[in-house]
Amino acid sequence: MSEATTIDGVNYGPLAALVGNWAGDKGVDKAPEPGDDEEKNLYYETITYEAIGDVTNAKKQTLSVLRYHQVVSRKSNDEVFHNETGYLMWDPDTDTVMQSLSIPRGVVLLAGGKVTEYDAANVVIDVTATAGALDFGILQQPFMEQNAKTTAFTHHITVEGDKLVYSESTMLSIYDKEYDHTDRNRLTRV
Ligand code: HEM
Repeated sequence: MSEATTIDGVNYGPLAALVGNWAGDKGVDKAPEPGDDEEKNLYYETITYEAIGDVTNAKKQTLSVLRYHQVVSRKSNDEVFHNETGYLMWDPDTDTVMQSLSIPRGVVLLAGGKVTEYDAANVVIDVTATAGALDFGILQQPFMEQNAKTTAFTHHITVEGDKLVYSESTMLSIYDKEYDHTDRNRLTRV
């Protein structure tokens, strides 16, 4: 397993299956509106996962790292309406996958989860983050904390060869309600 998941001498383990450029046009977004309203947006997107090597922490922990960039456009007007960057990291000693993400609303988070079943072409990744947690947590600028707070995040990614499917749930405290802002898409390696 480790041979096939090694790129330029670094073993990316469960992250190896993600490396590359992906595109998909079956995206469905559900986003909050005031009152009982919500909006549904159909979208297309590209996601790039780039293998960038490994890092060592406190001389003991070595993480292999992918850097990613996701650019999402509304089908109705071709405008980019979600832009996200971050890293995926794998700690082989604890079977932990971590995702750090930043979105240009003034929201950042670090999500984590365990991944043990994978090979070079197939993997299922689940990571979660919760506001207030000191390890896998969420931070946001004061306006968002007060008006559109992200309270929890879950991200489920499945790769089978050249097909990638994801679904994510971003729990928001907004417009005096708790709202499950969801996104999902199917992508193909390009
Ligand atoms: C494919 C992924 C995503 C898409 C297409 C998307 C799209 C949207 C849209 C259309 C809105 C409503 C904006 C408005 O009404 O002005 C929204 C709101 C929001 N999104 Fe996302 N989003 C995505 C992922 C995320 C993620 C991962 C987070 C945070 C972890 C996030 C956090 C928020 C927040 C905090 C708001 C509330 C701001 C507001 O509605 O005014 N979103 N998103």
